[in-house]
Amino acid sequence: FNVPTPTNETVLNYGPQSPERAALKAALAEGRAYKIDIPMYIGDKQIFEGKRLEIRPPHDHKHLLANFFEGDKSTVEQAIEAALAAKADWEDMPWEQRAAIFLKAADLFAGPYRAKINAATMLGQSKNAYQAEIDAACELVDFLRFNVSYMTDIYAQQPPVSPKGIWNRVEQRPLEGFVFALTPFNFTAIAGNLPASAAMMGNVVVWKPAYTQIYAANVLMQVFLEAGLPPGVINLIYVDGPVAGDVIFNHPDFAGIHFTGSTKVFQDIWQTIGTNIHKYKTYPRIVGETGGKDFVLAHPSANAEVVSTALVRGAFEYQGQKCSAASRAYIPASLWPAVKEFMQRDLATIKVGPTEDFENFVNAVISEASFDKLAKYIDDAKADSSVEIIAGGTYDKSQGWFIQPTVLQVQDPYYVTMCTELFGPVLTIYVYEDDKFDEILQVVDKTSIYALTGSIISQDRYAIAKATQALRNAAGNFYINDKPTGAVVGQQPFGGARGSGTNDKAGSMINLLRWVSPRTIKETF
Ligand code: NAD
Ligand code: ALA
Repeated sequence: FNVPTPTNETVLNYGPQSPERAALKAALAEGRAYKIDIPMYIGDKQIFEGKRLEIRPPHDHKHLLANFFEGDKSTVEQAIEAALAAKADWEDMPWEQRAAIFLKAADLFAGPYRAKINAATMLGQSKNAYQAEIDAACELVDFLRFNVSYMTDIYAQQPPVSPKGIWNRVEQRPLEGFVFALTPFNFTAIAGNLPASAAMMGNVVVWKPAYTQIYAANVLMQVFLEAGLPPGVINLIYVDGPVAGDVIFNHPDFAGIHFTGSTKVFQDIWQTIGTNIHKYKTYPRIVGETGGKDFVLAHPSANAEVVSTALVRGAFEYQGQKCSAASRAYIPASLWPAVKEFMQRDLATIKVGPTEDFENFVNAVISEASFDKLAKYIDDAKADSSVEIIAGGTYDKSQGWFIQPTVLQVQDPYYVTMCTELFGPVLTIYVYEDDKFDEILQVVDKTSIYALTGSIISQDRYAIAKATQALRNAAGNFYINDKPTGAVVGQQPFGGARGSGTNDKAGSMINLLRWVSPRTIKETF
């Protein structure tokens, strides 16, 4: 038994007269008009109890979209109990049946729920139609289908050698205990993949999403259940992070964390797990994809328009709120005037506004806290005589958390916005002398604590080879002549090292192997 290697889900184009645009418009209108109460999902219960909190679109913060219920410590305890109660039956289910559930979920997301999950991502997280489509429809579906294929490869692995009279075999057991999935706001696909990939391998899961992603998380959960996921296998709760952590990381059955989010939060969690290590039955698996300060390095041989396009798309799609977003760039002096002109030309045509207007390329940043932080960095840059504002530099929060795509040119390659993850539409550029390419490679390598994504843009094969070698530890995903965003599942396994994560490559066999604990069995005849 095996499943065929999948192909990537086709990205639909949402052209003005297309049926997908009509379906999406209808789903957006329904989502805006229909103010729902979103429950937590624990075992076979939907919980409509706790503190009632609001969800508002980041691009339209006067509009109430939905309410959800915030739980407390007892909610987390109930979720763990429900997960552990579901464990035996889930582990015993033949893996082909587990696979079928997630393949069915993929078909539901790709088909009948496509408009709904995209609309939820657009309204709740302020993505435009294209950004929602490549995330909530395509990447999510690809994660599910490709992971099922990797899963079948794991269970079908070649057994160890068995000499005459002996049968050696390896059994891939789920972890002993429950897995905690702690997910970020910025990708619906990641929010779905973190609990699903652990569950696929036979584990039970407590899942806590970012509050700013709950609107779409609710649709994810509904579809998993409709696809046949038994209640209790994934338990979705809304509890303040540290409150949830306090229960989870003190529990003897805590068996692993599947995390995506900021570096600081992950490091604090790792430290807590280390402190509590004697409390657990087993060494927990710690898998985390964290922050980035992703670079674009142009060589003097590069085509200026290619560089500009990589920067505009890499830095400003989804308002720069991709972990992979280009946020620092190194441009040779000879190329800079042309790159600058192309960027200013393109940025002048970019429209900023609500997601429901399909003309808008840039929408709102996720929250007021994020808006205020970005506005402060922009104000500081404006007040610094060594920094030149090449584009943008303005912001407006009267209707939503809108920041104009902003490009800063700095004199110091270690200026604060060259080193710090801002997570918004702010790109910082350092212009280097053409004959200093070797030196700039060293600067790129040592500027930040992160190593997630990066690009070299060059028409010189020798420079490409040199950069690929010199920057081998500076990015887990390295792109040659492309922007540093937009990894496709099954094509570019995604993840970073250094301060960017454990590099267990989301959507890969490497990742799935973290959710099993092999048992070797020797039988002598
Ligand atoms: P975040 O770290 O603020 O939150 C991530 C999750 O952790 C959320 O569910 C949050 O509620 C929870 N959390 C926060 N503080 C906690 C605490 N003290 N204890 C327990 N849980 C806590 O991240 P975010 O703002 O949602 O996402 C943006 C970050 O995620 C960026 O740093 C980005 O680079 C990173 N990210 C990385 C990748 C990757 O693949 N490397 C992908 C997406 C996002
Ligand atoms: N898959 C996303 C990207 O590469 C994170 O941009």
